[in-house]
Amino acid sequence: MALQVFTAVTGAAWESALVGALDRADHGVTVVRRCVDVGDLLAAAATGTGQAALLSADLRRLDGDAVARLAAAGVAVVGLVEPGDERAAGRMQAWGVRRVLPADAGPEEIARALREAVAGGPPSGHDVADPRAALPGSPPVESVGERTDGAGTVVAVWGPTGAPGRTTVAVGLADEAARLGVEALLVDADVYGGVVAQVLGLLDESPGLAAAARRAAAGTLDETALRQLAWEIRPGLGVLTGLARADRWPELRPSAVVQVLEEARRLAALTVVDCGFSLEEDEELSFDTAAPRRNGATLAVLEAADVVLCVGGADPVALQRCIRALGDLRDVLPGVEPLVVVNQVRRGPVPGDPQREIGEALQRFAGREVDCFLPADRRAADAALASGRTLAEVAPTSPLREGLRALAAQLAGVPAGASRRTRWSLGRTAG
Ligand SMILES: Nc1ncnc2c1ncn2[C@@H]1O[C@H](COP(=O)(O)OP(=O)(O)OP(=O)(O)O)[C@@H](O)[C@H]1O
Ligand SMILES: [Mg+2]
Repeated sequence: MALQVFTAVTGAAWESALVGALDRADHGVTVVRRCVDVGDLLAAAATGTGQAALLSADLRRLDGDAVARLAAAGVAVVGLVEPGDERAAGRMQAWGVRRVLPADAGPEEIARALREAVAGGPPSGHDVADPRAALPGSPPVESVGERTDGAGTVVAVWGPTGAPGRTTVAVGLADEAARLGVEALLVDADVYGGVVAQVLGLLDESPGLAAAARRAAAGTLDETALRQLAWEIRPGLGVLTGLARADRWPELRPSAVVQVLEEARRLAALTVVDCGFSLEEDEELSFDTAAPRRNGATLAVLEAADVVLCVGGADPVALQRCIRALGDLRDVLPGVEPLVVVNQVRRGPVPGDPQREIGEALQRFAGREVDCFLPADRRAADAALASGRTLAEVAPTSPLREGLRALAAQLAGVPAGASRRTRWSLGRTAG
């Protein structure tokens, strides 16, 4: 049976001739629908009547998110660009289109690329009703130090509901890494509303991450643009602020956020991402692959990160939530092996030696070792919050700060006492 193909190459002078040529000759390809725009294309893809799509780079509203949704619907994509337009080709590749041809390639070659794209399958291979369908096709998770391209490490700080201390840990890790001489970028990707700007005393109305994601979706995000969108807290520490209002979550499109992280790897040796807590998807939406998913960005960050920290609290309720969250993570992203960080450890809420009791509980019920215990340190945490500064500034000798410093050193792969001069600087200066 001939391959059923959608085309969406509107605006191009050669579209009609190409579609005619593809259809006429026996290339084993049938054009089942000529789509007028991205919405039309996604609707067609959802009908399941096509296996591949031929798209031109100049199609309005085409971005990585649309490509990811086509992949999730089982539609393989081949891109067409004006001959010699390297920028357009690069843009399509950044969106996840693996096969990009010049428009003058000829129907036979284009038909072959379509067949190969289908044979290669969609990048993720995820089931349509699977929450992971919202994810772009990102590389498998690697552990610290296993990066192949020499770029920076991305650490996702995640954990269950109940405010176990994700933001405290993320801010502390980025700050301590920078103090250890490792260029750090802190990214607030909490889809339930970001607070990193407030925690650091930044008066920020315009979310840097959303702006970066917009540029990534438009194919115009590069290192310079990312630098300009990040606040420079001090040399060596940058912050991409998050959504000031939780209802703006659709601005954090998963594929665009992943592209921002890829650019962040070029900018900083260590990127620390403060993530939202939930991995759940909205059941109403779960059968609508084209609907944006609130937790899509969280899933995408967890999948794209080199290291995922699961931050849990140290009382029985928080532990129960942590155990459940670890189970959810295993179900949704089985390839991700998180490091477990238990925060706010203190005597009282659990009997006996809290570290031993908590360690045994997590081992027994989640099958996980605790990688790091951080002490409860209310005085230090409050002092930091009250002044909009970091623990290193307001409570440099506090045990919580010491714990975060040691963890930052471990994640960055430097000795905890080392200090190198940092070298990069950013566009927006915190004052
Ligand atoms: N180790 C600690 N000792 C004492 N207080 C802590 C500690 N860690 C975090 N806190 C405090 O707990 C509260 C919640 O912390 P934080 O905002 O970091 O949690 P979160 O997991 O990011 O929460 P949310 O779900 O709101 O994003 C804050 O008041 C913070 O100062
Ligand atoms: Mg938080």
